[in-house]
Amino acid sequence: MTDLSAFSLEGRRVLVSGANTGIGQGIALAIGRAGGQVIGVGRSDMDDTVAGMAGIGGSFVPVRCDLADPDAAGQMLADIWADAPLDGLVNNAGIIRRADAVAFTEADWDDVMDINLKSLFFLSQGFARRAMEEGRAARIVNIASMLSFQGGIRVASYTASKHGVLGLTRLMACEWAARGINVNAVAPGYIETNNTAALRADATRSAAILDRIPAGRWGQPDDIGEATVFLLSRASRYMHGAVVPVDGGWLAR
Ligand SMILES: NC(=O)c1ccc[n+]([C@@H]2O[C@H](COP(=O)([O-])OP(=O)(O)OC[C@H]3O[C@@H](n4cnc5c(N)ncnc54)[C@H](OP(=O)(O)O)[C@@H]3O)[C@@H](O)[C@H]2O)c1
Repeated sequence: MTDLSAFSLEGRRVLVSGANTGIGQGIALAIGRAGGQVIGVGRSDMDDTVAGMAGIGGSFVPVRCDLADPDAAGQMLADIWADAPLDGLVNNAGIIRRADAVAFTEADWDDVMDINLKSLFFLSQGFARRAMEEGRAARIVNIASMLSFQGGIRVASYTASKHGVLGLTRLMACEWAARGINVNAVAPGYIETNNTAALRADATRSAAILDRIPAGRWGQPDDIGEATVFLLSRASRYMHGAVVPVDGGWLAR
């Protein structure tokens, strides 16, 4: 018989970055439904997620931090850990900038790399160091992308960053698996969030994308939530360095 408790996050404390909206919010609520406590970290107010969590009787603590500032992020993690150790980290916060490759600016390169890749690595490093010092088993889930596998169009820094997320997920998994830390990633397909608002507003691009999705619909933040819960739970204990596409079949095409 399947032991369903292996999928529970009862008693687990998980930091989710970018939890005020979109995929991060979907992940936070899914963790709440699985019995986990969420510390939501981001630079905007999280009233929406606070209300959603209250609605399902979940535990959610919002923490303000601009993760593009490495010192602020380091201090934030130290403060959270000093309150109580964490069991999981979901590196979800991310941005995208769109411009033709020939016109792509250095600012659009640096801004995206700083949050999507650099902050993901150093948050993971700080989290893993503390877990190892305390001999705690812990989980890291990175949010990758279809552009971890494909080139995309007009999103040079985003594609570079998400290919980097795939590589770092594997590197961290290799270094930390034997230390009790599982590092894996979820690669969302095309999900209805702020990140894809410009694509959905472009009737031609939007129709072309939808036409290619075998499931016949764009994804919702909730679709990513439960896959992330699985990677945070005991059920995925022998998974290290895996990247799970949750894409309505996009990559299978
Ligand atoms: N939507 C998709 O189709 C899709 C597909 C594949 C992968 N993803 C990835 O999924 C993740 C979430 O994206 P989303 O679609 O949910 O987009 P979103 O709605 O734009 O949410 C992005 C989140 O990241 C936060 N964030 C950005 N910069 C930050 C910073 N410097 N410090 C703290 N928080 C910051 C945002 O906070 P603010 O609200 O304050 O800006 C927001 O909470 C990203 O890593 C994205 O690349 C999305």
